[in-house]
Amino acid sequence: MVERGPRRSASATALELLADLIVRTTGVHYGETRREQLEERLEEATAARGLSLLDYYYLLRYDPDAGAAWNELMDRLAVPETYFWRQPDQFQALVEEVLPRWAAAHPNRPLRIWSAACCSGEEPLSIAMALAEGGWWDRLAIELVGSDASEALLDRARAGVYGERALRSLSPARRARWFRREPAGWRIDPALHARVRWARANLLDEAQAGPLASADVVFCRNVLIYFSDDAILRVARMLARHMPDAGWLFLGASESLMRLATDFTMEEVGPAFAYVRKPGAAPGGGPAPPPPSRPLTAQPEPR
Ligand SMILES: C[S@@+](CC[C@H](N)C(=O)[O-])C[C@H]1O[C@@H](n2cnc3c(N)ncnc32)[C@H](O)[C@@H]1O
Repeated sequence: MVERGPRRSASATALELLADLIVRTTGVHYGETRREQLEERLEEATAARGLSLLDYYYLLRYDPDAGAAWNELMDRLAVPETYFWRQPDQFQALVEEVLPRWAAAHPNRPLRIWSAACCSGEEPLSIAMALAEGGWWDRLAIELVGSDASEALLDRARAGVYGERALRSLSPARRARWFRREPAGWRIDPALHARVRWARANLLDEAQAGPLASADVVFCRNVLIYFSDDAILRVARMLARHMPDAGWLFLGASESLMRLATDFTMEEVGPAFAYVRKPGAAPGGGPAPPPPSRPLTAQPEPR
């Protein structure tokens, strides 16, 4: 039954307020086509707390202890679609083009790689695999960090056990080399798993994401596709402010910065494309914006 009258309009207003607060805090944009999905997620969140939509908005917006509610909401909003060896041309570009150039230019400097919205870990673990198969862990000091805004997804990444779907793009040889069957699923090789440091970071919170963004290579794939243009610009500016001059940024296949005014330009890197900072743009992005009104709680990460 369609609700009419003041109650309906009050909850419609609260929904608008929440959609606006969510896009400003997390970047995730729920336009008309995704409103129903947002409503469902919010219904779950408000039912779990016995709150109306408007009370929930006030909690997220003003409560001094809103951090836990934000973290829980982030877990509900996350789209956990990922798998091993997704867009392998970029891993090939990393191993065959980026690393040899890097090693020649900086033989004694550690290389930092950041997988910026790593979901349950398949992306940074694929990078770790590609580096191992190319022999790079023995040749260079490499720091590899996987981060996400969802703590629940990071817990899955830390566990390192995956279902069949996550392995769907792996060759039998890679599956045999890097995984062991267990009752709960496929366990990734523990030594490979230990190569990745896991961290919690909201891309829109510069205090959390900025230090990670000073990496030399950033994979930020299949997350900006859910963001508003304004949020994409904020992330691009944050990256331009922190990435080194000769840094490489890899986005997902259906994502692009070219239609927006950013400090990045696209460059062919072997079989893939990467974004690099435009000459003369460093240090890019202009001054840092104020932090979001309600930062998701950052977590210090033990190694
Ligand atoms: C579709 S997955 C992409 C995973 C992986 N990068 C890939 O390409 O396979 C999107 C991820 O973005 C994360 N995410 C959404 N908003 C975020 C934000 N503001 N900061 C960091 N991560 C975010 C979600 O939690 C989710 O894990």
